Amino acid sequence: MVERFATYIEGFDDKLQGGIPRDSVVLLVGEPGTMKSSVAFNFLYHNAVNDKAKGLYITLEQSTNSLSQHMSTMDMEFDKIMDKVEIVDMGLIRKKMKDLKDHTWMQVFKMYVKSLKDSNNYDLLVIDSLPVLDVLAKFENPREELFHLFEWLRDLGITTILVSEMNPDSRSYSKYDEDFLADGILYLRMTELGGVSVERHIRCVKLRSTNHNTNFYTLMFDNGKFKVTKMISDAKER
Ligand SMILES: Nc1ncnc2c1ncn2[C@@H]1O[C@H](COP(=O)(O)OP(=O)(O)OP(=O)(O)O)[C@@H](O)[C@H]1O
Ligand SMILES: [Mg+2]
Repeated sequence: MVERFATYIEGFDDKLQGGIPRDSVVLLVGEPGTMKSSVAFNFLYHNAVNDKAKGLYITLEQSTNSLSQHMSTMDMEFDKIMDKVEIVDMGLIRKKMKDLKDHTWMQVFKMYVKSLKDSNNYDLLVIDSLPVLDVLAKFENPREELFHLFEWLRDLGITTILVSEMNPDSRSYSKYDEDFLADGILYLRMTELGGVSVERHIRCVKLRSTNHNTNFYTLMFDNGKFKVTKMISDAKER
């Protein structure tokens, strides 16, 4: 049986045979403001609170403070999971870079992640986000480098959510074919209803080793919890 980590999005895990398979690399893709970081943090937070897994959140876009502040407005208190979830931001990574001047950005990044994994035995990893990683690592051969990064993550024995961005006008989930390389894709979107209100949706585009359906569901955040319901609107699928 495949071991899985629940997303703790109520109603959605049932659609994924219980959650994300252990040691997979899953892209969490969406346009700006579609709650990518919140869904990713929710994954680490509830796995920690429920004593299922320890998680490492690498935030390349936001500072640790800004991220934990946002999460506390969403009823996720960092104090409750201090010993089970670690947030690492660019400030900390830069410090490491200074000590290891002869190495490339990617080498230092991997060494840092590996040392944190070895010392704290994290089960889950969030990298937020892939476009920023791309800028920092200055990929010369993106397809190949991403292929090796994904393989490296799987071998590390860690289940990864890689947050990625999607251009509102694009129909593609990726820039460098990372959608083919990843084991799964979760897609978040906002859809206008009648030009006034907006509904949030989530969809599992693919998830290896999983019998899932690919429908859109309405995503809601209520009483400190994410949950999905059948789509309320009859908004057109893209
Ligand atoms: N209860 C809430 N508290 C705070 N923000 C909320 C809440 N409910 C919904 N939001 C929305 O969450 C959004 C931010 O979520 P988040 O930072 O996770 O999105 P993101 O997709 O990671 O954004 P970005 O593209 O900036 O990285 C806000 O723009 C706000 O609209
Ligand atoms: Mg974000």
